[in-house]
Amino acid sequence: MSYPGVRPRRLRGTAAMRRLVAENRVSPAELVLPLFVREGLPEPRPIPSLPGVMQHSRESLRKAAAEAVAAGVGGLMLFGVPQQRDPEGSAGTDPRGVLNVAIGDVVAEVGDSTVVMSDLCLDEFTDHGHCGVLAADGTVDNDATLVRYSEMALVQAAAGAHVLGLSGMMDGQVQAVRRALDAAGHEQVAILAYAAKYASACYGPFRDAVESTLEGDRQTYQQHPANSREALREVALDVAEGADIVMVKPALPYLDVIAAVRDAVQVPVAAYQVSGEYAMVEAAAANGWLDRERVVAETLTSIRRAGAQIILTYWATEAARALR
Ligand code: PBG
Repeated sequence: MSYPGVRPRRLRGTAAMRRLVAENRVSPAELVLPLFVREGLPEPRPIPSLPGVMQHSRESLRKAAAEAVAAGVGGLMLFGVPQQRDPEGSAGTDPRGVLNVAIGDVVAEVGDSTVVMSDLCLDEFTDHGHCGVLAADGTVDNDATLVRYSEMALVQAAAGAHVLGLSGMMDGQVQAVRRALDAAGHEQVAILAYAAKYASACYGPFRDAVESTLEGDRQTYQQHPANSREALREVALDVAEGADIVMVKPALPYLDVIAAVRDAVQVPVAAYQVSGEYAMVEAAAANGWLDRERVVAETLTSIRRAGAQIILTYWATEAARALR
């Protein structure tokens, strides 16, 4: 009778042993909660395709922010849903626009106790729903959009945002925004670049959340799902242009990209577990097909294991509470 000389199972025998040898763990401080605020809402409104997530009123947004902070969440990412949209996305640069007011409200509520981030993109504010302004031929005009992003950056920084999340995938957006911020004395405002952002089908519920008016798609500016080397190129450009944090988005279908980016750069790497990733798990769990809490924990751990040290997730507050 011969026996195995090596027994990996020894390290799996008890919960205490498994805990001791765990290579990765998720902590509340690295979780960032995305929050939606809609202009003119007296009460928060549920988003049917994102069960448990709300379009917030000004009042309920402050409350949700405070709850996230109490749970130990490391950051908040704010998205605004305006009542009026136009071709230039004017509400995005109006200091009284929904997102800019929300930044001020949230900073007043939480101060420096967490990191307040704001989405810097035009798609919620344009009537055509694209992430930039359009040229005469209907294509997204990259360089004209950079001017609008620079203007948005100054308004968001003035409202008090600590980090600007550049999610539009325009070429040169990090450099344009960095220069505008520095020239205006906002050199301490950080940039989180959605560096490798894919043209993903997993953003569907988000588009409900922001009442997106997009016709067509974003394939001329977001990346093709087939490419990973291209992601490294995008990331290198964003770092060279001054990005403080780079993000990969979505997360679970792109764990290989997260791992490659982690190896390629020295700046912190974030990942966005997007609306569709959330909705898939919630829908299956609602049918009793998955053990919801275990799947949530497993997905977050996997994103961590791949190399993201910051995770944007709609489960941030709940997961932070569970981890405490
Ligand atoms: C663009 C933006 C999007 C998301 C975050 N920022 C939508 C898009 O690119 O179409 C999606 C996030 C999610 O699906 O949870 N402002």
